[in-house]
Amino acid sequence: MSLLDEIKAKAAVRKKTIVLCEGEDERVIRAAAEITKEGIAKIVLIGNEAECKKVAPGVELKGVTLIDPLTSDKTSKYASILYEARKAKGMTEEQAKEQAKDRTMFGALMLKAGDVDGYVSGACHSTANTLRPGLQVVKTAPGISTVSSCFIMIAPNKTNPYNPDGVAVFADCAINIEPTAEQLADIAISSAKTARTIAGIEPRVAFLSFSTKGSGNDDKFYQTVPKVKSAVEIAKAAAPELALDGEFQFDAAVAPEVGALKAPGSAVAGHANVLVFPNINAGNIGYKIAQRYGGYMAIGPICQGFAKPLNDLSRGCNVEDIVATVAVTALQAE
Ligand SMILES: CC(C)(COP(=O)(O)OP(=O)(O)OC[C@H]1O[C@@H](n2cnc3c(N)ncnc32)[C@H](O)[C@@H]1OP(=O)(O)O)[C@@H](O)C(=O)NCCC(=O)NCCS
Repeated sequence: MSLLDEIKAKAAVRKKTIVLCEGEDERVIRAAAEITKEGIAKIVLIGNEAECKKVAPGVELKGVTLIDPLTSDKTSKYASILYEARKAKGMTEEQAKEQAKDRTMFGALMLKAGDVDGYVSGACHSTANTLRPGLQVVKTAPGISTVSSCFIMIAPNKTNPYNPDGVAVFADCAINIEPTAEQLADIAISSAKTARTIAGIEPRVAFLSFSTKGSGNDDKFYQTVPKVKSAVEIAKAAAPELALDGEFQFDAAVAPEVGALKAPGSAVAGHANVLVFPNINAGNIGYKIAQRYGGYMAIGPICQGFAKPLNDLSRGCNVEDIVATVAVTALQAE
């Protein structure tokens, strides 16, 4: 069974309720029907029947709960939740009433209120517009201050000596552009959790750099090596139970012979399966190299670090991508 099929099967056992915010999008409506038919999750679709019939004629939505913020009796309760969450930032009650009718905000408020277990949107909204409601009202998990993202990278086979499990986690490739040391530490801790709960691997976390344990420490101007070193110390103090170490060059992180030579005694060097990149440039380029040159399949970006699970779809997504993202979200739910 592929990892994706395993994720869907595990999600089906959990029977979580996931809100899909974009009932105006044909792919989302089709995914809602498919997820319900396959029993992967219970779906709340934000939209209305007339719209669904017009956008996706003939799609059977039996078992899908439709909810429209413009007519729902929950909208005023959600507006109060929004007002309480944002009044310190200057939001007025009138603004909260208006914003609660927005479909993505309504979905985030459903999640905040505990009426659903997870949120998936972004088929027809930008990353910022998809994640902002979650950042504003759902906020981060206890002990974490940074929402981040990762990709689960699945190898074409298990013959690569540098990735014997055939699975790795790459972070952050999509959200935090130039993370601070504190943010890098959060990214590492959240990625370890994703590695366990979604990828099903025991995490060994490497903080990547162009330097291994001080080998490139002449980086006085840009200070990228000291930043990564400092992130390692912060993460070790915050999560002493985790196998994490750095700073490592990529080969020192994944090649046993290089790890033993350049970082003797490290529990992670040469055996890492969770790779924390120093910034989004490195992360985004890195996962695409693995995809295109290495033949890896990328699942994600998976958002991590929220108090409750929210995920962002690519605007180029297809129905299968939405089904997969809902299954991942269901596994992230408590
Ligand atoms: C994550 C992102 C979408 C947030 O954008 P934004 O909504 O403009 O963010 P803002 O700076 O206005 O912040 C909104 C709120 O979220 C919080 N926030 C922003 N980024 C956060 C993060 N990574 N973790 C936790 N909180 C965050 C802010 O503190 C702010 O909270 P407040 O309003 O309560 O004070 C932005 O970082 C981004 O665009 N990243 C790059 C995404 C991208 O282009 N990816 C490429 C796809 S491959």
